[in-house]
Order: sequence, then structure tokens, then C-alpha cells
Amino acid sequence: MCGIFGYIGKKDAALILLDGLATLEYRGYDSSGIYVSGAGNVKTIGAVENLRKIIPKNFYGTSGIAHLRWATHGEPTERNAHPHTDCAKSVWVVHNGIVENYKELGELLSLRGHKFQSSTDTEILAHLVEEEMKLTKEFPAAVSAALKKVRGTYGAAFMHGGEPNLIVAARMGAPVVIGCGTEENFVASDASPILRHTRHVVYLHDGDVAIMRQNSHHIQTLEGAAAGRASHTIEWDEAQVQKGGYDHFMLKEIMEAPGVVENAIRGRIVTSGGLAKFGGLEAVKDKLRDVKRIVIVGCGSAYYAGLVGEYMFEECAGISTEVEFGSEFRYRKPVVDDHTLLLAISQSGETADTLEAIREAKRKGALALGIVNTVGSTIARECDAGIYNHAGPEISVASTKAFVSQLTILALVTVFLGRQRNMSLATGREILAELTQIPVKIDKILQQKDKIRKLIARYSSFRDFLYIGRKYNLPIAYEGALKLKEVSYVHAEGYGAGEMKHGPLAMIDENFPTVAIVFQDSVYEKMISNIREIEARKGPVLALATEGDNDVSALVRDVLFIPKTLEILSPILAVVPLQLFAYFNAVEKGHNVDRPRNLAKSVTVE
Ligand code: AGP
Repeated sequence: MCGIFGYIGKKDAALILLDGLATLEYRGYDSSGIYVSGAGNVKTIGAVENLRKIIPKNFYGTSGIAHLRWATHGEPTERNAHPHTDCAKSVWVVHNGIVENYKELGELLSLRGHKFQSSTDTEILAHLVEEEMKLTKEFPAAVSAALKKVRGTYGAAFMHGGEPNLIVAARMGAPVVIGCGTEENFVASDASPILRHTRHVVYLHDGDVAIMRQNSHHIQTLEGAAAGRASHTIEWDEAQVQKGGYDHFMLKEIMEAPGVVENAIRGRIVTSGGLAKFGGLEAVKDKLRDVKRIVIVGCGSAYYAGLVGEYMFEECAGISTEVEFGSEFRYRKPVVDDHTLLLAISQSGETADTLEAIREAKRKGALALGIVNTVGSTIARECDAGIYNHAGPEISVASTKAFVSQLTILALVTVFLGRQRNMSLATGREILAELTQIPVKIDKILQQKDKIRKLIARYSSFRDFLYIGRKYNLPIAYEGALKLKEVSYVHAEGYGAGEMKHGPLAMIDENFPTVAIVFQDSVYEKMISNIREIEARKGPVLALATEGDNDVSALVRDVLFIPKTLEILSPILAVVPLQLFAYFNAVEKGHNVDRPRNLAKSVTVE
């Protein structure tokens, strides 16, 4: 996600802001920019180092705002980099978040003669403030009035060229922290760039507006009422702040899952019609109606997410679907035509095998869609259309929150395609209504974090694991096994539970544990039989079971209860405890959890 940083004091603002942006690079970036009062603004694509290199001589001022962009709207280009400004180049803004109603606001502003320089949602904010300044000459009041018109999320900082000793910051749904120094103040998306200057901070609440000067800061609500916010002294170091206080990015990203689901569904559900909507699919929705077959392509976890999608599309949208590894699809002689949809899933948007599979399918006339987390990535650009996850950057090599996001979006796409076909209004509404409950249900699972951590002692001595599931949760057995392999280096194999008698059962004894996904769903009885046959051979079983299902508890060595949900959505919940199980195993083994040996975050070569 983007990072904002602002400084107001007596020192060289450019120097402080550039160092602060470098500290924020862990948040992911594709471009950056800086505005210094009295000196102007500079922005560029790539790392902060690129920005530092092009700062002109004598670029001096003692206040400014800066931004590290992780694109959500608009390609990663210099033109789209923040800060953004208004027509008069007086109002400057840096922003983390999403202005959901930027289209209608932009239309209104265009009618009043405003001209936009970028294709971002953020630029709207500068022009909104410019409009409000015509009504009130008071800059903070103009900012508050403008923000009242915004629907969406923001962690933003504003400056006006005519008031160098003033920064106005505001928070709604995206973190903002104020750093209180001696004759200087700071504002940032998190405390990491502030800590080297001061450990005294104030965290803004949603709806807060902070009016900051060199020697003061005042916090009020959007309505102008004083908001007394406590000051805190941070004990953490920069690294801990970047990990949100967690020991590793992997744990932080697992814990972000509820918000990730909310970001994936935000603005994409039309409850009344039981419909899902995607801005990125508008141009191809008629072609999607004609699709007769779907080929889902991905690698690693993305491939396993695709396997869940296969069950969803077939059962709920009635579309014949197959899933292929990118590395296989590109070398086969795939049967593809103009009624085939190639759906590529990729967090990084740069996986070579997935990219080549897209190119191969497009050569044969298929429509190519992407479910991608990285805006402006190669896969995002080469697909005919697509859907962004808006999951924020995933730093840990092991994919966790992106996988949860992919499943969420696949469920939305299922409703989108299903409602174009014979999915009823009632079914569409049912799936979407339950999808909105998933964040709370994930939260309930995350509250078992310590119970899962304590379980490790009972399993860390085992050298091999079997993960079993059926139907929607067979891919989760594969994904759970992959997580354990990736970060713990322990051998684990995902297997269809129905296959046990066809071979794997021979491996079972007291030294060979099985993780079994046993929800009260359409394959429950079959899974119970599988557990019985394993336990009969003294195989230890750790079961994921539906909350309240005490029958399973009596049958297995350990059980983790998962809130009940629709079978089609159960994989989104099932994967979370398995991610935590893998994480705590790796921690117990003392591995470099975020950077497992031999692996890279994005496999951009074959
Ligand atoms: C998952 O934990 C792995 N890091 C890996 O399998 C990953 O899912 C795969 O390389 C695909 O990456 P992508 O989603 O960026 O295309």
C-alpha cells in the first residue's frame, strides 16, 4: 500500500522526506514524489533512489510532503505519482487509500472547468480542495469540506503553496500517525520514518483532521470539533514498526486477511440484484456471457486458488472449467478458441510461466482475464481485462493474504458469471451476503492463533505430513501442504481423501500425521470415514472441523474449529489455520520465515 510522509520544522525538508520515503519502501512501491514548500515538486517511477538523484540543487524548504506509491488506480507512471496538485498548482496532496466515488466527483469538477493531469483517484482531492477554497479562505476548513464529499478511504496530507507553515492531515480507513518533535512535527502512514526524529506520536482516528505547524498540532473532527487524542511513546524499532509489531511479515499478512477480504469485495457487490460488479470487466462483459469454457492458469498457490475456482465455476455458474500450471499449459497443444476464457491468477503479475500461458492462449483467440495484485504489472497489462486484488503488497515469500484475496475474488467472479447464466437472484444474494460475513469469521479463527502456536509442540518432531480434503477443500489440502513445505522445509503432501485406499493409506502409522479438512458439508460423511481409517492405523489426525461438531473431536488427536459458512466459501476460512500452522512450525524451527531458502517472491524466469 502507499506511504505518505510529511515534515514541518526548521531543517532541510527534502533530506528528511527522502530518508523517510526510503524507510517506507518496505510497503511496496512503483513510484515516488515530493513537494517542498518554496521549492516545488519532483516525482519519478521506481525506487526512492531514483527520486533522490533528480532533486535539483538548492531544492530547499523547511516543510513538505512526500509519497511512495503502490498503484491502485492508474498505471505506475511519473504522471500518476504523488503529490498531486490542483489547476492553480496551489494545493498539494499525498494519499494512501481509495476514493471510491472519484468518477462522479471528477465529472462534477470537470463541469466546473477543472483539468486533470493524471488518471488517479487521488488528484480529485486536490481539485476538491481548490473548489472549497473559493468558498472559504481557511485551508483546513477547505480540506475538511472537501473530504466530507469523499466516499472511500484516505490517509492523506495536504499543503497549500501560500501557507508553508501548515500541513493538514486526515484519516479515514487508512492509518495516519503524527510525530511530535521539538519545533518540528511529522505525519506518516506508520511510525517507521518518524522514529529516528521522535518517539512521541499521536495516532489519528477515522474522521480526524490534524492541523500541523512547526510548533503545534491540533486534532479535530471533520465537523471541526476538537478531538483529544492521547500521545504515545513508541518503544519499537523501525523493523518492528514495519511489521506492525509482529515478528514477521508472514504473520502480519495472515492477520491482515479480514481487511484483505473487505478490500476485495469493496464496491463490488450489488446486494439488491444479487450481482457482483467489476469496473475492469465492463468492456468485456458481453464476451464473458458467450464464454463456454474456462481455463484457469497459475503457478504455486495461485494454481491452487484456481482449483477452488474450478469447483465454484462448475457448480455455481455451470461453466466447464479446467486448471493448468502455467509451466504445463504453455508447452501443451491446448484446445482453445474464441469461446474460451483464459483466467490468469498471479499476485506479482510477473510470473514467467503464467505470462507465457496468457500469450499462448491469446495467440489462439482466447479472451484473457487477470486476477492480479500488482497494478501495472506485465500480466495485468497483457490481459484483455482484469480485476485487481487491492490486497496491498505481500512482502513475505509465502503467499497468504493474496491467496485469501484470490479466493474471495473467484467467489465474486462466480456470481458475476453465474448471474449472466442460470444462477438465481436468491443464490446470488445468498453467496454475496455470506461473503460479507467472512471477515468476521476469519477474525474468529485468528483468535485461535495462540492455540495453534501451542499445537506445534505436538507436531514439530514429525518429518512427513499428509494433508487431505475433498471437493472445495482438496485444493486447500494442497495449499496447506505447500505452506508447510515452503517455510518449514518439512515434507508434506496434499491428497484427495478419496484416494487414501488407492495408496497413501500404506504410509499411515503413529509417525505419520494427517491434517484433515472435515467440514459439515456435502462430503462430510466421506471425510469421517477417511478419518476413521487413518485413526484405526494409529495415524495422528489434526482436523479442521465445523464449530460445534463434537463428533469429530472424539475421533481425532487434535481439532481446530472453524465457523460455519457456505461450502463454496469454506476454503477461504480453511486456509487461514493452515497458514498459521505452517508459520509457527517455521518459527519453531528457527527458519528465515519471510525469506525461505532457495525461493524468490516472484519467479520471473522459467
Ligand atoms: C506461494 O506461497 C509461493 N510463494 C509461490 O507458489 C507463488 O504462489 C507462485 O510463485 C505464484 O506467484 P504469483 O502469484 O506472483 O504468480
